[in-house]
Amino acid sequence: MISRRVASSGAMASKRASAQLLKSCNGLGTSSAIGLRPSFIIVRQCQPLIASRRNFSSTSNVNSKEFFPKNETERVRKTGSAWPHPVYTPEQMDSVVVAHREAKTYSDKVALLAVKVLRYGLDLATGYKHEKATALNKKDPTAALHKYAMNEKKYMIRNVFLESVAGVPGMVAGMLRHLHSMRRMKRDNGWIETLLEESFNERMHLLTFLKMSEPGLFMRLMVLGAQGVWFNALFLAYLISPRTVHRFVGYLEEEAVITYTRQIADIDAGRLPEWSNLQAPEIAVEYWKMPEGHRTMRDLLLYIRADESKHREVNHTLGNLNQKEDPNPYVSEYKDLTRPHPTKGLEHLRATGWERSEII
Ligand SMILES: [Fe+2]
Ligand SMILES: [Fe+2]
Repeated sequence: MISRRVASSGAMASKRASAQLLKSCNGLGTSSAIGLRPSFIIVRQCQPLIASRRNFSSTSNVNSKEFFPKNETERVRKTGSAWPHPVYTPEQMDSVVVAHREAKTYSDKVALLAVKVLRYGLDLATGYKHEKATALNKKDPTAALHKYAMNEKKYMIRNVFLESVAGVPGMVAGMLRHLHSMRRMKRDNGWIETLLEESFNERMHLLTFLKMSEPGLFMRLMVLGAQGVWFNALFLAYLISPRTVHRFVGYLEEEAVITYTRQIADIDAGRLPEWSNLQAPEIAVEYWKMPEGHRTMRDLLLYIRADESKHREVNHTLGNLNQKEDPNPYVSEYKDLTRPHPTKGLEHLRATGWERSEII
């Protein structure tokens, strides 16, 4: 486990965690500039390394424990994954790009607006203000540095929160389609499996990040509250318009690709020194089958970003289909194998999704 530890009292840490989530590392006294991003975002080390040994935790050092330690039993050697992850090549992962599908229909526009509102809320909570940072950096780099710096800790807070909500839509959609299939006594045409697999994959992202930093009480409350609202909102939305929800998730995943692309760029530019030599936890190495020599934090972010790009494609594609009649293109066999078609891996990646006419 790569959890960080620092000796601090519970009360002190609790205050610190709250302050971090709302606007962490805003103090000027302890900051030191590392540099400016090529495009704008600024990173600084907020605190001396010794003081950042434990990321966003309000649990006292005495009470902290390893997250989900392996259950040793007398007869079981190992419990494998229900959905083995497809193997990604470095070239495939490098080919992932930031992309945006134009909102054409009324339903698309509603979905995009919902994502923008959510993005604003998350940016506020995690101190991630890309556009404002860009604008201020052009005028006054020093002020931008103090106001909008991102660092390992803030990125990790964002990642944990993002992944804790990302695992919900697939489960809600899969569950509703499962119930619908039984209730209407009709086939589902293979959608359930892909939707549940997506939520499983998102949960693996979350579990991986939790092996690297321990959330405190404040973060746990945020996740609890968000899940309570989030699950019910998605449940109702999917009943009303499943197409809009898939488009919404497609746009959400566009944002996830942007977030991880920025983190990779920051590592490359040397602005996240604590991550430069950090190794991926065992759970990640096993799940993504990360080859030896490619098990750093940067490699891990490449894998996760590639997963998000797949979710982006899958949900934009599902949003293009007839929700009741069409087969799931990601588990279908095609008559003409010479033509590119959707797959579970990164072959034929389509950032903005497949159009119905291309695949059905
Ligand atoms: Fe994710
Ligand atoms: Fe995702």
